[in-house]
Amino acid sequence: MIKLLTVVGARPQIIKAAALSRALKNKFPDRISEIILHTGQHYDQNMSQVFFDELGIPEPDFNLNTGSASHGVQTAAMIVGIEEKLLTLKPDFLVLYGDTNSTLAGAIAASKLKIPVVHIEAGLRSFNKTMPEEINRIVCDHVSTLLFSPTPTGVANLVKEGFATDTRPPFSADNPAVYHCGDIMYDNSLYFSRVAEERSSILEKHHLEPGKFILGTIHRDNNTDDPQRLNAIFRTLHRISSGETKVFVPLHPRASKMLDQNLDKKLYGEINANPNLVITKPVSFLDIIKLEKNAKMIITDSGGVQKEAYFFRKPCIILRPETEWVEIVENGTALIADADPEKILDAFEYFSHQDDLEFPPVFGDGKAAEFICEKIIHTFENK
Ligand code: UD1
Ligand code: UDP
Repeated sequence: MIKLLTVVGARPQIIKAAALSRALKNKFPDRISEIILHTGQHYDQNMSQVFFDELGIPEPDFNLNTGSASHGVQTAAMIVGIEEKLLTLKPDFLVLYGDTNSTLAGAIAASKLKIPVVHIEAGLRSFNKTMPEEINRIVCDHVSTLLFSPTPTGVANLVKEGFATDTRPPFSADNPAVYHCGDIMYDNSLYFSRVAEERSSILEKHHLEPGKFILGTIHRDNNTDDPQRLNAIFRTLHRISSGETKVFVPLHPRASKMLDQNLDKKLYGEINANPNLVITKPVSFLDIIKLEKNAKMIITDSGGVQKEAYFFRKPCIILRPETEWVEIVENGTALIADADPEKILDAFEYFSHQDDLEFPPVFGDGKAAEFICEKIIHTFENK
């Protein structure tokens, strides 16, 4: 039996882990045993536990309870905690998702102990190193043994950085294997879409009519921590929601805290009095899927939510200067508006009158997790 250690820490990683855990349990229960280590990077009930409760992910075997801190303090604490577990548990390999500080810590701890790293969501690049995520994903990719990229663009990015796609076993950090596998989040969206229909009552709870509201999410550090950008975004959402359109924003705790600190007081008062701009705490995955499926349009700086907009065939306004998910922009279903009110309003106007957008398949067949498990078995069984 292969022994795998999965490290999760932030909301999107817990969600992604659901797809792999499901494939392991349903298809390969006798081949791979999974131990789950939660770094505790996210810890609020609605940023962590809700996903374990709702998505059928086994409870974490260990929680480092790292919590929030500066990049250095947080990442260092996680490296120490992960290293300790790697030494005692001696897994055959470590699975890491995406590009958070939990990913970076796992990559550094495992690679120094010569434990192979499997990176899911490899090869994505914003080409913007002011993003902490760009640093994290580059480091993780370059110490990984198996790299699973959701898109051909991701594979092409890796090739530009010197990775080869025709390497042969035995694989190692110096002879890594790169695979295009489709998007593990697409697996989840397909799987949970019907469940969300049955179980989520978020639309009724907030009196949202299908097709008549916009879903917004904001959490990127450059948007939340820069008062000018934060004010520009919320002023624009307020303006959009002053007409017929309702805007529903389940807000990341980072952004909520910064609203209290940095939002212009007059604007904050107006927003609080605006019944069409609804700001709530983060919602569960089934609720957000229900919201995404029924929204008229999505406005977001989230990586995951951009893709889910595409999965559910919704136009998306991206509150960032660039995106890793270039295919959705190339296909004309998403527009990059940054935190520029004019661009956001133009994009809103444009998408309000587009009823014939096309969403050709980009993110695989919904079976990325199974593909990943098969490659893992091939690499680590009988090693
Ligand atoms: C992290 C990831 C980001 C990812 C996001 C997903 C890094 C560098 N960034 O950003 O790539 O897109 O998670 O959501 O790893 N907080 C709470 N409760 C929580 C968690 C956070 O209140 O449960 C607040 C704290 O004030 C904390 C702040 O949010 O300081 C930021 O949290 P942190 O985990 O450092 O980064 P995120 O912005 O969540
Ligand atoms: N998400 C959620 N509840 C929310 C907001 C987002 O379950 O209130 C989900 C979303 O559907 C997606 C994931 O969280 O699957 C994305 O995480 P986030 O936006 O925090 O990070 P990113 O993807 O940008 O790293």
